[in-house]
Amino acid sequence: MQFREQNRQAWDHLARSGSQFAHVATDEECGQPLLSLDTHGWLPGSVQGLDVLCLAGGGGWQSILYAAAGARVTVADLSPAMLALDEREAARRKLTVRVLEASMDDLSPLPDRSFDIVHQPVSTCYVPRLKPVYAEIARVLRPGGLYISQHKQPTSLQIVDRDGRDRYIVGVGYYHNDPLPAVIDESYREDGAVEYLHRWEELIGELCAAGFVIEALTEPRRGDPKAKPGHFKHRGLFVPPYVRLKARRSEAKSPVAGRSPIWTPE
Ligand SMILES: C[S@@+](CC[C@H](N)C(=O)[O-])C[C@H]1O[C@@H](n2cnc3c(N)ncnc32)[C@H](O)[C@@H]1O
Repeated sequence: MQFREQNRQAWDHLARSGSQFAHVATDEECGQPLLSLDTHGWLPGSVQGLDVLCLAGGGGWQSILYAAAGARVTVADLSPAMLALDEREAARRKLTVRVLEASMDDLSPLPDRSFDIVHQPVSTCYVPRLKPVYAEIARVLRPGGLYISQHKQPTSLQIVDRDGRDRYIVGVGYYHNDPLPAVIDESYREDGAVEYLHRWEELIGELCAAGFVIEALTEPRRGDPKAKPGHFKHRGLFVPPYVRLKARRSEAKSPVAGRSPIWTPE
């Protein structure tokens, strides 16, 4: 089965079975939507009237908060069940959210330069190649537009198990291009989904090659010193699961640009 079809089915199932990633925005969060969305202060002081694309952001969280903050919101996602949550919550709160069933590597229904902000929660692990995703984001963003994203870190996806001394075992090669194998330690993996490891040269290098400048990078903490071995928060003490990026679509080509702006990882 193709990765898109399998991931659509997996996420439809996760949405219907109450996954933690299908939790909709609460009244409290909607009361302070920008604070809920943006603990780092990466967003502008107001998003009122801005065009925002929540990419692979179905589930009724990001889209609802941006709409509550006054943005014009489109949410593009592969899973109809995740998008149904956005539609349901928008209707319930009398907000306008446009939904689009699409894969992040083909946003052809969306015109060039139509968004000020693209916000993408953890999801690039569900496609084999990042280059087409970044190319689409660069195309739909206006020059100077903001791309805020979160991704799974490659080392975390290399872990397969824990040994008898509670040390984590790196059992998948760094250059693994195929779908990730089933693992014993399933922390930070989603049930039924096909996932891919993306190296740093893809996550960061290809983003720069697509015409973005990285303005900030953080590693959200998931570790807890009190967590017992076997708990995802124990593993999070040893290997950070995620990286969060703030990047900006460059305005124009710099006069001192290098000779080969289009760099391709081997
Ligand atoms: C971790 S959830 C993110 C949504 C959630 N609102 C959150 O706050 O984290 C990942 C999302 O990626 C979507 N997805 C998976 N593969 C995709 C693809 N190829 N194109 C677009 N969306 C995809 C899933 O349907 C799911 O809604």
